[in-house]
Amino acid sequence: MPHVLVVDGHPVDVDVAGLPSLATVLRDQLHLTAAKVACGRGECGACTVLIGGRPTMSCITPAALVREPVETSEGLAEESRDLRARFADTGAFQCGFCTPGQVVHACALLRAGLPTDDEAGRDHVRQALSGNICRCTGYQAIVESVCAVARERS
Ligand code: FES
Ligand code: FES
Repeated sequence: MPHVLVVDGHPVDVDVAGLPSLATVLRDQLHLTAAKVACGRGECGACTVLIGGRPTMSCITPAALVREPVETSEGLAEESRDLRARFADTGAFQCGFCTPGQVVHACALLRAGLPTDDEAGRDHVRQALSGNICRCTGYQAIVESVCAVARERS
């Protein structure tokens, strides 16, 4: 069953026969493999992409229902360059499996802006990223990285 997605600014024809998830279509048909499928049931955030600018778990989103533009970690590479550099500098990833989802979600947060008060900013990021599970880092470096980039961009 043909369907058109707009992915990272480009219209692409995909096959949604069998109602595959958006994650499956991105990975298996479009070879965009940054979004990871870990739990596969909407619990970990590893598969996060932006749909219409909103962080969305692509593993539980049927591709056939997606009508708004999709942004992937690959498409956000330039926008997230400073954030990814900060992650690397601060040890905000270890195995890296959660990292594309964390970075994509953080891109949306940074577009919206953080509270200017430092502690309120940290709380905002902690709460917003609470659905992006990381088994390695303890989260502190992730939160500090996002807050530091927000300060640098302001
Ligand atoms: S793989 Fe999608 S939420 Fe875990
Ligand atoms: S860096 Fe390993 S799960 Fe987050």
